[in-house]
Amino acid sequence: MSQSTDREPIGVIGTGYVGLVSAAGFAELGNDVWCVDIDAEKIEGLRQGRIPIWEPGLGELVERHRDRLHFSTHLPDALERARLLFVAVGTPPTYSGDADLSAVHAVVDAMPPSDRHALVMKSTVPVGTGETIRRLFDEQGKGGFSYVSCPEFLKEGSAVKDFLAPDRVVVGDAGDWAGDAVVELYAPLQAPLVRTDVKSAEMVKLASNAFLATKISFINEIANVCEETGADVVEVAKGMGLDDRIGPKFLQAGIGFGGSCFPKDVAALKQLAGNSGYHFQLLNSVIEVNELQKRRVMAKLQKHLGSLVGKEIGLLGLAFKPNTDDMREASSLVLSARLQAAGARVRVYDPVAEEQARKLIRGAQFRDSAMGVADGADAVVLVTEWPEFAELDLRELAAAMRGDLLVDGRNFLDPDRVREAGLAYEGVGRPAQRQPEPARTA
Ligand SMILES: NC(=O)c1ccc[n+]([C@@H]2O[C@H](COP(=O)([O-])OP(=O)(O)OC[C@H]3O[C@@H](n4cnc5c(N)ncnc54)[C@H](O)[C@@H]3O)[C@@H](O)[C@H]2O)c1
Repeated sequence: MSQSTDREPIGVIGTGYVGLVSAAGFAELGNDVWCVDIDAEKIEGLRQGRIPIWEPGLGELVERHRDRLHFSTHLPDALERARLLFVAVGTPPTYSGDADLSAVHAVVDAMPPSDRHALVMKSTVPVGTGETIRRLFDEQGKGGFSYVSCPEFLKEGSAVKDFLAPDRVVVGDAGDWAGDAVVELYAPLQAPLVRTDVKSAEMVKLASNAFLATKISFINEIANVCEETGADVVEVAKGMGLDDRIGPKFLQAGIGFGGSCFPKDVAALKQLAGNSGYHFQLLNSVIEVNELQKRRVMAKLQKHLGSLVGKEIGLLGLAFKPNTDDMREASSLVLSARLQAAGARVRVYDPVAEEQARKLIRGAQFRDSAMGVADGADAVVLVTEWPEFAELDLRELAAAMRGDLLVDGRNFLDPDRVREAGLAYEGVGRPAQRQPEPARTA
C-alpha cells in the first residue's frame, strides 16, 4: 500500500465503525488524519491505543499508524489542518422511521464560515440532505463551504478489507474542487468510480441496502415455502445463485437481518418515498417478512417442546452477524424477549459481543461458552454463525443438554452431523428429516 507523505491531511468527524475504519484506512494510504468525536471517553481511550469496537484488523492498523492518527474532541484541531472533513456520525432511525439527522446538523452548525473547507458526507442520509445542508450553509453565511456526498459501503466484520478494496467509490458533488480532491484521495485504491450528482450518490447508498435487504427477505420467503413443500432452500439457493444475473451472495436463508444499517436504511428509504408522495409497497413487505422471520423460531421450538413455560432455551451467538460486537437490531434481541414473554428461561453466549449485549438483553443468563449454554437446556438456537460454532463437539453438546432440539437459525451446521449426534435438527427452509440420497448418474 502507498506510504507517500505528500498526501493531504484530512479530518474525520465521528469515530464509530465508519469513522475509525475510514481514518485508519486513509492513514494506511499515507494521510494524516485528524479524528474528532464528542465522546471524550472514546477519544481518551483511542489516544491510549484502546479500540472501542471489535473489528478484525482495525487494532493493528491503528497501532501501525499511531503517528498519523490524531484524536481530539476539539473540532478546530481538524479544521486548522484539513480542508476535507469526512462526516461519519450516526443517523439512527426515529420513531417515524425517518433518519435522525440531529448529529449531522450539529456538525453543520459547528462549522465556521470558510472558503477552503468541504464537508464530505460518509453518514447514510436521506436523498436531499446535501441540498438541505447547502441551503443551511447559505443561511448561516457559510456559502463558501463545499459539499460532497461519499457514501460508505463497508461491512462490519470485514470493514478494513472493504475500505482498502472497495467494490466502488461513489462521489456526488457539484463539480468544484472538493469532489476532485475526494476522488484524488481514493485514487490509490483503484476502485471503479461513480462520479455523479449529490442526490444520486445519496440514493445509491439507500437503494443498495434496500436491494440487499430485499434479497434476504426474498430467500427467507422461499425458505418458508420450502418448509411447506419439502424442498431444501440451501439446494435451491445454490441452484439460483449460479445464475450470474442473480449471484450467490445474500441468498442465505435465516432468522432475519439486523444490524445498524439494513433495518434503518430500508425504513428510511420507505419513509423518504412516503414523504415525497410515493408509496414504496415492496419495502413494506421486506420489513414485515423480516420481522415475522425472527419470530418463526418460536413456532419451531413449540412444535417440539409444546408450551415454553419453564423451558430452558439457549442462544448461541448474539451479535447481528459474526465478526462484530455490534448488537444494534440483532435478531437475538427479539428472540430473547419473545422467549421470556412466552415463559421460557433464556441462557446466552457470544464469543465477542457479551459486553454490548449486556446493555440490551434483559433477564437472560450470560454463560461463558457454548457448552455452558447447552448445559441442562431443552433446546439450543444458533443465532449467529460464529466460526467457532462450526467446531462444536455436537455429541458433547447433546450429552450436556436436557432436551435434544437444535434450531439452526442460520443453516450453518450440517444437519446430518447434528442428527448423528442424537439431536433433532430444525433449520430454516430445510426438510425436518434426512433426505434420501439422490440417485446419481455416472
Ligand atoms: N456501521 C456500518 O456498517 C455502516 C456502513 C456504512 C454506512 N454507515 C453509516 O455511517 C454512519 C455512522 O455509522 P457508525 O456505525 O459508524 O456509527 P457509530 O454510532 O458507531 O459512530 C458514530 C460516532 O459519531 C460520534 N458523534 C455523534 N455526534 C457527533 C458530533 N456532533 N461530532 C462528533 N462526533 C459525533 C459518536 O460519538 C460516535 O462515536 C451512519 O450514518 C451509518 O448509517 C454505517
